[in-house]
Amino acid sequence: MEIGIIVHSLTGNTLSVAERLQERLVADGHDVEIEQLKTIGEENTNENNSANITLRSYPDPQAHDLLIIAGPVRGASASPVLKHYFSRVGQFESKPTLLFVTEFFPFPWMGGKNALKQMTALCDEHGADVIGSGVINWKNPHRERQITDLLQQFSDLAMRMDQKVK
Ligand SMILES: Cc1cc2nc3c(=O)[nH]c(=O)nc-3n(C[C@H](O)[C@H](O)[C@H](O)COP(=O)(O)O)c2cc1C
Repeated sequence: MEIGIIVHSLTGNTLSVAERLQERLVADGHDVEIEQLKTIGEENTNENNSANITLRSYPDPQAHDLLIIAGPVRGASASPVLKHYFSRVGQFESKPTLLFVTEFFPFPWMGGKNALKQMTALCDEHGADVIGSGVINWKNPHRERQITDLLQQFSDLAMRMDQKVK
């Protein structure tokens, strides 16, 4: 199936997980495109008003069979860049969607869960069908296992969706 990974990543953590996911999903037989959300000019991490953000491009959520949306946790919330993206795109029309965030702190309750809750609410508002999600805690000693578990979970869910479509 055709999978789009829409990712915001400033320092590369989230992107590195997205690239590993891409590798895994390609090995599973899917076509996977990573689309990075980048601001015009240097990203201002003090900008919390997502209305003041402008992106270089706004990937079409309808262009893929399955979407993966990912970004960093910012102030125990979803990234303002992702919030801005949602404010500018149309409906997802029941698109199966997977979400993940990366955060510096070692445990999901230190912001990651709240960020996912916000991203899930944004997906719901846009009519997306969130079928799975995960948090990667960069300072957790078991980070590598968190990543491999996420790859396995998303691989299984993508496979299940693929079988449904066929
Ligand atoms: C402005 C700002 C706010 C942040 N707030 C949090 C936070 O609330 N909790 C947390 O664990 N990490 C926080 N971080 C750290 C990032 O979420 C973390 O380093 C993430 O993995 C970065 O992802 P990236 O490399 O894809 O940009 C923050 C980083 C920045 C720049």
